[in-house]
Amino acid sequence: MSLTTPEAFERLQHACTPVLDAAGFMAGEQAEPRYCTDWSGGTGRPLAVLRPRDPQETARLLRILHGLRQPLVIQGGMTGLVGACVPQPGEVVLSLERLRSIEAFDAQAGTLTVQAGVPLETVQQYAEARGWMFPVDIGSRGSCQIGGIIATNAGGNRVLRHGMTRQSVLGLEVVLSDGTVLSRMGQALKDNAGYDLKHNFIGSEGTLGVITRAVLVLQPLPATHLTALVSVNGFDSVRKLLSLCRQRLGAGLCSFEVMWRDYFDAVTVGLATGRSPFEEPGTHLILVEFMGNTPDTDTATFEAAMEVALEQLPSAQIVLAQSLAEAAQLWAIRDAAGEAARAIGPWAGFDVSLSPDHMERWVQAVHDQLRRDGYDALQTYGHLGDGNLHLVIGHVHGAGAREQVADLVHRSIGALGGSISGEHGIGISKKHHLGYCRSDAEIAMMRSLKQTLDPRQLLNRGRVIDLPATL
Ligand code: LAC
Ligand code: ZN
Repeated sequence: MSLTTPEAFERLQHACTPVLDAAGFMAGEQAEPRYCTDWSGGTGRPLAVLRPRDPQETARLLRILHGLRQPLVIQGGMTGLVGACVPQPGEVVLSLERLRSIEAFDAQAGTLTVQAGVPLETVQQYAEARGWMFPVDIGSRGSCQIGGIIATNAGGNRVLRHGMTRQSVLGLEVVLSDGTVLSRMGQALKDNAGYDLKHNFIGSEGTLGVITRAVLVLQPLPATHLTALVSVNGFDSVRKLLSLCRQRLGAGLCSFEVMWRDYFDAVTVGLATGRSPFEEPGTHLILVEFMGNTPDTDTATFEAAMEVALEQLPSAQIVLAQSLAEAAQLWAIRDAAGEAARAIGPWAGFDVSLSPDHMERWVQAVHDQLRRDGYDALQTYGHLGDGNLHLVIGHVHGAGAREQVADLVHRSIGALGGSISGEHGIGISKKHHLGYCRSDAEIAMMRSLKQTLDPRQLLNRGRVIDLPATL
């Protein structure tokens, strides 16, 4: 039951304000737009916005909301793409944006202890200034927050080398829906004392608990950073190039980002945001990024690998960035994804993953079907090293058409054993298609976890999975 009457609002205010300062409680009508909408474009107005100052205050608030049976939506930087953080009717917002403290840096171990509301870019810059790197990197780095990237197990462009966010989380503190604090701020990589509970919360999209603090694993800051843009003809050559780069560059290979011509042309010809360095680009363009810690030999290793690619792949053309500025220009082509999508709006975006063995066949079949259905503005790109593809379909007008293209994409990906979300998550917008890639038994287990950890269904209710209504 949610509190929607004026009396109920007063009860909420009366219960919460004793633990909050003046900036900690805002009535829903006064909530700024940033609490009402996320990057998916969904909008909703909360009953109130709660902004605790620290993890302890967060736990106290959760105990109060539990007593009131008040549903809440947990918010970080609001950069999600699946509608998970948009307030639904009757919900209050719990914003973690004031949990901004970087609590500890361990220069020996290379770990950083931070609160949930610290922006990703702040963590990256803090680490870099001390000779370390936090490897998770996504386009929304300036806005997204650590709590959010952990709750969604964010991916990005360096997963190939450093894994999803999960791999960079050593310890975690979580508040359960009833205010119970589970704090396991681990400092050692090895810890097999029973179930590793933190992994239940990483990627749970805020449905199982509220992340308040984390111990992050840093990597040594690379001494060299080399980038190439490779053009090839045919998907087979893309796969050969990936295999060759893996063999030759080993752990130094950190990104392998593929752009199909439909996307590459949209950016370099249609938008003219980035310039193509090739007069006649091939069917696929690949950004290869290498980071190393052996400055004397890294450049030679990278250039030798690119030479082998030129020898072994007859269609290959390669541009090596000669400076960080040139590398940034090449990355600008890949980073223009948001702008490219807006140019063909209203658009529908997808984030699938599947085995590279099936990728070409799947892309071909889906492109063909979409074209037959009248959709010509397609943009295809992705993190191929991770089997993660983005497909953006332009000019999708109306909810019916949106559902039709989503069903085509998700059903076909499920049939090939792929996943309907490689990195963005399920949230609200993909929930009804979860069954295309998860079995009944798996979904039943997800429900059972939710039931156990949040029996009153107060946290991010109706995201990822649905449960029968509670009393
Ligand atoms: C990207 C985001 C959309 O890869 O995941 O550009
Ligand atoms: Zn992506």
